[in-house]
Amino acid sequence: MRTSEPPHEEKSRRGGAFRNYSSRLAATCSRSRSYRHVLNFAGLSPGEFTQSPNIGKIMNQQTKIAPIPIPFIDLAAQRRHLGDAIDKAIARVLEHGQYILGPEVRMLESELARFCGANEAISCANGTDALGLVLMAMGVQPGDAIICPTFTFAATAEIVAWVGATPIFVDVFPDTFNIDPGTIERAVVTAKQLGLKPVGVIPVDLFGQAADYDAIEQACAAQGLWYLSDAAQSFGATYKSRKVGTFGIATSTSFFPAKPLGCYGDGGAVLTDDAELAATIRSLRVHGQGSDKYDNVRIGINGRLDTIQAAILIEKLKIFADEISKRAEIADRYNAALADVAIVPKLLDDCLSTWAQYTIRIKPDRRDRFVSDLKAEGIPTAIYYPKPLHQQTAYRHYPVAGNGAPVADQIAQEVVSLPMHPYLDPEIQDRIIATVRSALRD
Ligand SMILES: Cc1ncc(COP(=O)(O)O)c(C=O)c1O
Repeated sequence: MRTSEPPHEEKSRRGGAFRNYSSRLAATCSRSRSYRHVLNFAGLSPGEFTQSPNIGKIMNQQTKIAPIPIPFIDLAAQRRHLGDAIDKAIARVLEHGQYILGPEVRMLESELARFCGANEAISCANGTDALGLVLMAMGVQPGDAIICPTFTFAATAEIVAWVGATPIFVDVFPDTFNIDPGTIERAVVTAKQLGLKPVGVIPVDLFGQAADYDAIEQACAAQGLWYLSDAAQSFGATYKSRKVGTFGIATSTSFFPAKPLGCYGDGGAVLTDDAELAATIRSLRVHGQGSDKYDNVRIGINGRLDTIQAAILIEKLKIFADEISKRAEIADRYNAALADVAIVPKLLDDCLSTWAQYTIRIKPDRRDRFVSDLKAEGIPTAIYYPKPLHQQTAYRHYPVAGNGAPVADQIAQEVVSLPMHPYLDPEIQDRIIATVRSALRD
């Protein structure tokens, strides 16, 4: 038997085109891991593929085999890597039955604080509540103004409106996507002109990289403002040897499943060194409770993290540092391979990002075609964010500092995020790099 021409093909009347395609695909199958997935899916080995009597039926149904789609974030791969640790952690909660504020919640809080070097961690229901709890604890109220970057997820400004205060939008840097601290003074002027009292800033660590906290601290000190760091995307990152979670009056983060440290539902936390602020937040997250849950000393919310989610996060935190290193290796590879065809993200000196997103910038008029070219090759992309907040229906009546936010307006048309997660193997990275390069070639 000649392996290049299996017997069923010699007997087949299905025609030369199919025979050629079939053996070419079989050869590709034996080389390529992704095509091997197709065979696994069909329950075939590469040898069985060419010899299967059903193969004609399969092949006749399609003229072109689409490339195997890859996930944007592969939570299933992480689950395989963790083995049964999470199942066991969930089983332990089911066994003790303390679903609300059970022992795992306290355990997670001390692990989170230890991980980033903060004195206190207060877990809560999601990253939006984490931001809101801090503003409530700080007594932010109508008439107050909070300065927010406009290039961010809605939650950053949403919670300012929750407490009746006014977000003042400011512009960002084009290379890091983070708040330009030079705009803070301008925003204070805008707030005062409107008769508002500027009280704080919410810098966002977009896509996993810490904002420039040295410059933010200086600008805030000069204007008598505090700042709350929105680290929904950056828990685990480092700014000049200091871990995110230790800046400003407090830091909020999110454990939404797609975040670098994500649970299997919604979750969030506040980190702070301020014991009094932490105690107020603990009270606020349980309806403003005092000495017990039927003693209500302030208006609060129901904002607790479920014990099951805490148990999951404890297991994920054990591998988190390693996952961040893997993300950094992939980002370095992307940067080296794509810098001549796109504007690649810039990391500040002495900083480590969690690479929640790997986001390049390309010419606005090429973006739609680029996205569809990659999709045709089974490579998903995402646009974070297609519109800055000051352009969104719900937020466009709020003030923008100075002369608007031209950088945010521009980059919103240019950004595209590529698949990024710690389980992206080198073969898939190569496929992404090659496809991006080919799609952007002039
Ligand atoms: C910058 C930023 N802030 C806040 C949030 C809100 O977090 P959550 O979805 O957990 O409420 C997110 C979520 O995507 C975010 O990206």
